[in-house]
Amino acid sequence: MACLNNFSLFYMVVFMTITATAAGSLMASPPAVKAAYWPSWAENFPPSAINTSFFTHIYYAFLMPNDVMYKFNLENSTAILLSNFTTTLRHKNPPVKTFFSIGGGGSDSTIFTRLASEAGSRKVFIDSSLEVARKFGFDGLDLDWEFPESPKEMQDLGRLFDEWRLAIDNEAKSTGQAPLLLTAAMYFSVDFFISEVYRKYPVDSISRNLDWINAMCFDYHGSWDTSLTGAHAALYDPKSNLSTSYGLKSWLQAGVPSSKLVMGLPLYGRSWTLKDAKLHRIGSPGVGVGPGDMGFLTLSEVDEFNWKNEVTVTFDIETVSTYSFVGTTWIGYDDAFTTTTKIGFAQAHGLRGYFFWALSYEREWEITRQASRAWILND
Ligand SMILES: *[C@@H]1O[C@H](CO)[C@@H](O)[C@H](O)[C@H]1NC(C)=O
Ligand SMILES: *[C@@H]1O[C@H](CO)[C@@H](O)[C@H](O)[C@H]1NC(C)=O
Ligand SMILES: *[C@@H]1O[C@H](CO)[C@@H](O)[C@H](O)[C@H]1NC(C)=O
Ligand SMILES: *[C@@H]1O[C@H](CO)[C@@H](O)[C@H](O)[C@H]1NC(C)=O
Repeated sequence: MACLNNFSLFYMVVFMTITATAAGSLMASPPAVKAAYWPSWAENFPPSAINTSFFTHIYYAFLMPNDVMYKFNLENSTAILLSNFTTTLRHKNPPVKTFFSIGGGGSDSTIFTRLASEAGSRKVFIDSSLEVARKFGFDGLDLDWEFPESPKEMQDLGRLFDEWRLAIDNEAKSTGQAPLLLTAAMYFSVDFFISEVYRKYPVDSISRNLDWINAMCFDYHGSWDTSLTGAHAALYDPKSNLSTSYGLKSWLQAGVPSSKLVMGLPLYGRSWTLKDAKLHRIGSPGVGVGPGDMGFLTLSEVDEFNWKNEVTVTFDIETVSTYSFVGTTWIGYDDAFTTTTKIGFAQAHGLRGYFFWALSYEREWEITRQASRAWILND
C-alpha cells in the first residue's frame, strides 16, 4: 500500500467511482416486465391454467365503463371472474401482479373520446376505476384506447393521465396502501404517420404519469391489405417504417424513458392466399386472406396447420420473422427463434420488458417460456 503513487490512486478512485455508479444504476433499475394479456373470453383457459413462472404481470382483458355514466357497472358474472382472477394469481407459485385493462381493440372508442373530453366525466371514470381495482385486489390499471383520433383527443388523453396519477397518489396516501400501477397499451409508434389525421401521443404526460406503456408492435399487415404478403410484426422493414424497430425508436426519440417502454409480441399469425403458388416470399402478390378468422390464426392453429400440411417454413433475416407456405397458403408469424431475437433487441435498447397478446394462443408455453429465459436483465 505504501508504494501507491498518485497515478494509481487516481485510477483507483476513478475505477471505484465507475463501479459505484454502475452498481447504483443497476440497483435503481426497475425490475423487468414480462407481461401477458389474458382474454377473459378464452375457452378452457381459466386463470388457474397460467404458469406464472414465465411472467411478472398478467392483464385481465377487458372491462368497459358504462357509455353514459362512465362508471364500471359490473355484472355479477364479471365480478365473479374478476375476483377469481386476482385471488388465483395472487396465490400461484410464484405470485404475479395483476392489472385490469380497460377498452381493447373491439371496444367502442367513442366512449373514451367522450369521457376524456370533460373534467366531470374523467373524474367519475377515474374514481370508479380505483374503486374496482381495490375492491377486487388488483395491483394496477391499464388503458387500451384504440385509438385517440385527433390532436385534441391526444391532449385529452394527457389530461386524463395527469388526473388519474393524482387520484392514485392521493388514494395511496389516504389509505396507506402501495399506489396502484398505471399503464397503457399504445400504437407501435409515438405518432400516427400513415393515417389521414396525423397525431402524436402526449409524451410528457405519459413520461410523468405512467409506470410504463405497452407498445403494440404487431398488426403491420393483415386482412385490410391482402394485395401483398407481409410480416405482421416485422422487427425491421427495409422498405417502410412499419416495423417494431422504427416504432420503438420513435418512442425513445420522442423522450419516453427506455425504462417505461415495453415491447409487444404476438402469439398469433396472419395468413394470405397467394396469387401464384410459385411466388411465396414476403411482399409477394396475394389475392385474399388464407385460413383463420379473417386470416388471424393463434400460434396453436399455425402449428396445427404446419403439421397437417407439408409446409415449407422459412426464417427471414431481413424482417426477423417466420413464414410457412404450401400451395397458395402463406402464413406469417413469430416463432421461438424470432421472438428470442426481438428480446435481444429490446434488452440492447434498455427497454423495461415485453408483453404478449395473448395468453391461451400458444401450445405448452413454447414461446413465453423461451422469452422468459432469454430476458436476463433486471430479472
Ligand atoms: C411451470 O413451468 C416451470 C418451468 O418450466 C415448471 O417447472 C413448472 O412445473 C410449471 N408449473 C406448472 C404448474 O405446470
Ligand atoms: C348480484 O349480486 C348481488 C349481491 O352480491 C345480489 O343482490 C343480486 O341479486 C345479484 N344479481 C343477480 C342478477 O343475480
Ligand atoms: C376459480 O374458478 C375455477 C373454475 O374455473 C375454480 O376451480 C377455482 O377454485 C376458482 N378459484 C378461486 C380462488 O375462486
Ligand atoms: C421513415 O421515417 C423517417 C423519419 O422518421 C423518414 O425520413 C423516412 O422517409 C421514412 N421512410 C419511409 C420509407 O417512409
